[in-house]
Amino acid sequence: MWDDFAEYVLSQCVKNPTKVAEIGVGKFSGVYDYLNSQDNVEILKTDISPDDSDVIADDVTKPNMDIYKDVDIIYSIRPPSEIQPYLVKLALKTDAQLIIKPLFNEDLNTGNVKMKLKNYQKASFYILR
Ligand SMILES: C[S@@+](CC[C@H](N)C(=O)[O-])C[C@H]1O[C@@H](n2cnc3c(N)ncnc32)[C@H](O)[C@@H]1O
Repeated sequence: MWDDFAEYVLSQCVKNPTKVAEIGVGKFSGVYDYLNSQDNVEILKTDISPDDSDVIADDVTKPNMDIYKDVDIIYSIRPPSEIQPYLVKLALKTDAQLIIKPLFNEDLNTGNVKMKLKNYQKASFYILR
């Protein structure tokens, strides 16, 4: 399933390079590592409490916009519901595509902005744009 999710994100990387940001990466870097190994992807990972030195410290509720300059795709895996509206806000502000993979297929906390449920092979997630 994670392979399918990572493959979908890669399929959206149509620019060379495509700038991608994973937010709230925690200890799970599998999707990041796959995307990071692709020639056309420039990727960064952030978390409010970084687990290692490759992770950029950032609170998405008060994002440092310099980090997300020119970002094309933002994705987040199992983000807590309280940060979901801020992911949307950041995506709208940066004009980025947003992909959120919730814990289960629960509705997201994105207020007036409705994200679309997307099924891709064995993966289900929400997309904006
Ligand atoms: C449920 S964990 C998911 C971690 C990882 N993506 C996964 O799927 O295993 C949520 C992550 O969001 C991060 N987080 C919580 N609040 C945040 C915020 N305001 N800004 C950025 N990251 C945040 C936490 O530190 C944690 O690593």
